[in-house]
Amino acid sequence: MRKTLIWDLPTRLFHWLLVLCIAGAWITGEKGAFDWHMRFGYGVLGLVLFRILWGLIGSDTARFIQFVRGPAAILHHIRELRAPGRLAPHAGHNALGALAVLGLLLVVGMQAVSGLFTSDGIMTDGPLVEHVSGATASLMRTIHLNNFNILLAIAGLHIVAILVYALWKRLDLVRPMVTGWVTLPASHPAPRIVSLVRALVVAAISATTIWALVSFA
Ligand code: HEM
Ligand code: HEM
Repeated sequence: MRKTLIWDLPTRLFHWLLVLCIAGAWITGEKGAFDWHMRFGYGVLGLVLFRILWGLIGSDTARFIQFVRGPAAILHHIRELRAPGRLAPHAGHNALGALAVLGLLLVVGMQAVSGLFTSDGIMTDGPLVEHVSGATASLMRTIHLNNFNILLAIAGLHIVAILVYALWKRLDLVRPMVTGWVTLPASHPAPRIVSLVRALVVAAISATTIWALVSFA
């Protein structure tokens, strides 16, 4: 057996910053602190954009092409999950986890994008409200308020799934998402981890794009 780095620092930072920004947007939204609500929302937008780009040019385990699989692989994984005993060693998202990643990114992305076009009708306008008709803004607000419940449900399911792996399969997924490392058989190929400089460039591009969008659009 050998210790192998499966999650690079950018992917781990992305994940925990995303959790932080969503929690921040939730709390500030409930409290009506919309200046901070929008800041956390911009954080979410930047992170989602970063993750999409990182899914194209990041480390192996972050790339969509490496982990998004077809229905056959998903069914195979479900059969493996239902069988007693431990899972075969695997570096990165499994076929079912890949669905969760895409679903989470989609719902979180929809939440943040709809916020850009949402107004509370009193004091707070999302930065792009003025570019759309009243009907569109009203639809976006409906999406923003309702999609949040879907986000909570899918995030809850995400956590339940992690608990199922821990309790049923004795597989701790959380520690690797914190430290990056897992123990794998030495014969298992280690994923390629790309340089942090690339991540910094992608992060700078993502942040600048969102900043320009909300400042100048
Ligand atoms: C993932 C990020 C986001 C989450 C989780 C989120 C969540 C929420 C929630 C739960 C509410 C309802 C608060 C209440 O109980 O009244 C809300 C309202 C609102 N959000 Fe967001 N939001 C996000 C991003 C954004 C962004 C990026 C913007 C704009 C730049 C935005 C603008 C607004 C506005 C203007 C309201 C008030 C709507 C109203 O009460 O009529 N949100 N958001
Ligand atoms: C708002 C809440 C959350 C959202 C939106 C969210 C979203 C995500 C996303 C998008 C990924 C894919 C990571 C990537 O490849 O970039 C992921 C993976 C993961 N998340 Fe979360 N997450 C949330 C909360 C949590 C919490 C509270 C925990 C810990 C208890 C957690 C543990 C994990 C783990 C362990 C993985 C890796 C799963 C695997 O090994 O395939 N997440 N999450």
